[in-house]
Amino acid sequence: MGRTNNLINPFPLMDYVSPEYFCDREIETEKIISALKNGRNVTLVSVRRLGKTALLKHVLKKVSKNKSTRILYLDILPTENLAGFIKTFSDAILKDEKSNGRFLTKVSKLLSGIKGKLVFDDVTGVPSVEVTVDDEKSGELSIQIIFEYLAEQKEKYIIVIDEFQQITNYPEKNVEAILRTQIQHQHKDSFVFSGSSKHTLISMFSDYGKPFYQSSDLLELGRIDKKVYSKFIKKQFKKRNKEIDTAYIDQQIDNFCNHTFYVQYFFNRLFEKAGSVITQADINLVTEEIVKEREYVFYNYRNLLSSLHFNILIAIAKEGGVSQINAGWFLTQYKLGQPSSVSSAVKILSDKEMIYHENGKYQIYDVFFEKWLSKVF
Ligand SMILES: Nc1ncnc2c1ncn2[C@@H]1O[C@H](COP(=O)(O)OP(=O)(O)OP(=O)(O)O)[C@@H](O)[C@H]1O
Ligand SMILES: [Mg+2]
Repeated sequence: MGRTNNLINPFPLMDYVSPEYFCDREIETEKIISALKNGRNVTLVSVRRLGKTALLKHVLKKVSKNKSTRILYLDILPTENLAGFIKTFSDAILKDEKSNGRFLTKVSKLLSGIKGKLVFDDVTGVPSVEVTVDDEKSGELSIQIIFEYLAEQKEKYIIVIDEFQQITNYPEKNVEAILRTQIQHQHKDSFVFSGSSKHTLISMFSDYGKPFYQSSDLLELGRIDKKVYSKFIKKQFKKRNKEIDTAYIDQQIDNFCNHTFYVQYFFNRLFEKAGSVITQADINLVTEEIVKEREYVFYNYRNLLSSLHFNILIAIAKEGGVSQINAGWFLTQYKLGQPSSVSSAVKILSDKEMIYHENGKYQIYDVFFEKWLSKVF
């Protein structure tokens, strides 16, 4: 491990930085690497903001040391159709080739095959591909050409497709099948599919008759072990000559239900505020600040949602999660009305990613919002 970089907050939030800022996930890292080495694809699922992308970047950092492996990382969340998918895929190939010199000659055949146009960003000069797809047949052909390109290269590719469930939102309905056909012939290369829509991903990969049936190892990411996380946090403070009581750390990990992003965020803010010894007053101050900054957005949710929707959120928050959303006592206590309208409201709130279902319970996604709801109402 290198020297401590005092310029970086030890709880970075935007992107994966390096192993020094990454807590645990050793078993998961090993599992993914081992599956890929042995020619098995991997599907990684978890609720939002638990650390899938960071884990994948951590894995990629390790495997990138092997010079005979090439990595393509595709985040397809912003894509809306097959053309967007093809563009993202081609951009990733371009980015990878660009670091290898002579890339233009090399990718020209690929570009003409997919009828892609190379454009350069006015400011950064970074090249990207413009793609138009006239119909599904030509989209399918472009995908085939991309996969042929990969097969022609001597190195093994690891292709990570983050937010994979997005393909089910494309207007083209057979993207799953098109990809499956290509992927099963891609013997040399390995794929990692990752996403937060557990239901969609699991059904894509395990429903008999669906194109991806049993084609990859399923890894459900859980929460980081509390003891390990606590030690990690303590060490991050200590390395920068700051003392924090383990009891304070544990209390906050519990408070944020061990949800990685919220824990990281809280300690990022606490670190910023802290002197050489962290006190309860520092913790209270940061907690207050975080809620205050968000209050405006939280009140706005109330205007944007129907009162039934908002009341359901309050009820779930106050209960700290609810297993039987239609139970008589629950509907009565929170005056929610008919079970059928509560069921459809819950479906809408899940689709909007305001709540999620895990371990048999409905819970509020945003832990800060949950704390605020249960306190204010
Ligand atoms: N093991 C870890 N150690 C330290 N920080 C982590 C770890 N895993 C994730 N993080 C941090 O937590 C935050 C959320 O992680 P990440 O974006 O990887 O989650 P995600 O599951 O991909 O979320 P989403 O479903 O929204 O894409 C990020 O700020 C990331 O840097
Ligand atoms: Mg992610």
